[in-house]
Amino acid sequence: MTSIILDCDPGHDDAIAMILALANPQLNVLAVTTSAGNQTPDKTLHNALRLLTLLNRSDIPVTGGALKPLARELIIAPEVHGESGLDGPKLPEPTFQPQNCSATELMAKQVRQSDQPVTLVPTGPLTNIAIFLTAHPELHSNIERIVLMGGSAGPGNWTAAAEFNIYVDPEAADIVFKAGIPIVMCGLDVTHQAQIMDCDIERVRAIKNPIAQCVADLLDFFMIYHRNPKWGFEGAPLHDPCTIAWLLKPELFQSVDCHVAIETSSELTVGMTVADRYQLTDKPANCTLVTDIDRQGFVDLIVESLNNYS
Ligand code: BDR
Ligand code: CA
Repeated sequence: MTSIILDCDPGHDDAIAMILALANPQLNVLAVTTSAGNQTPDKTLHNALRLLTLLNRSDIPVTGGALKPLARELIIAPEVHGESGLDGPKLPEPTFQPQNCSATELMAKQVRQSDQPVTLVPTGPLTNIAIFLTAHPELHSNIERIVLMGGSAGPGNWTAAAEFNIYVDPEAADIVFKAGIPIVMCGLDVTHQAQIMDCDIERVRAIKNPIAQCVADLLDFFMIYHRNPKWGFEGAPLHDPCTIAWLLKPELFQSVDCHVAIETSSELTVGMTVADRYQLTDKPANCTLVTDIDRQGFVDLIVESLNNYS
């Protein structure tokens, strides 16, 4: 069993990542913390609570994180995720409260108490993770790795150079990539291959439980933004669930170890994850860059996992 902490900004694909994680008992979710990103921090926290209420998992401690990036104003993505951050499905109002502590405190408590090293799974901007790693160097040795969604070794999706999660808080990403903790980077290189097609949504819709119906509604909404022909997509790239799929079935993925640096100053390329694929620098690899996915295997994993709900 792998113990994980989800740090997310739900967010349609964050929501599906959470649903995938909680469907699989091989993953022990120690906490959910929320970051500001896809929507404002009040909304992403509210969405996490609504999702866990739907999933009947009020036993999982939840709390909100930093209100804004370390050194910049917050940028949000309502054009992708709607005004609520989770437009589309009907979700219940939360039936429980967040913990009365910060995301850093909750992460520290869970990592400290865990009898096995914990994997951090950030699927939003890296603000909370950077604050936690900076505040608690004594806990780094009990972190197994960081499996994150963010970045790209090629083009960006928010600017020509940068992927959204890294672009929102590049200073935080810089801290995380320099922390010396093993990183698995599920960036656009792989997530743009992890597309969900209309026929896949039909498979999900055919699963007659409320969680699968919610996922189908999430996917229907998520499709809208990605249908713009400028992307050249056939479906919608399901970014964040790639992290959970990598933990559950690493055999679905291919990767390469390399050094990744974060651009924090150039106006043109700020937020770029500069991946040294050909070892052109003498910097040692700090990252497992995930490059390819078995898309059909990924979709099958999602469908099988949704069948675990009743
Ligand atoms: C990332 O940005 C967000 O909109 C998604 O939730 C994902 O984490 C993709 O660039
Ligand atoms: Ca996200």
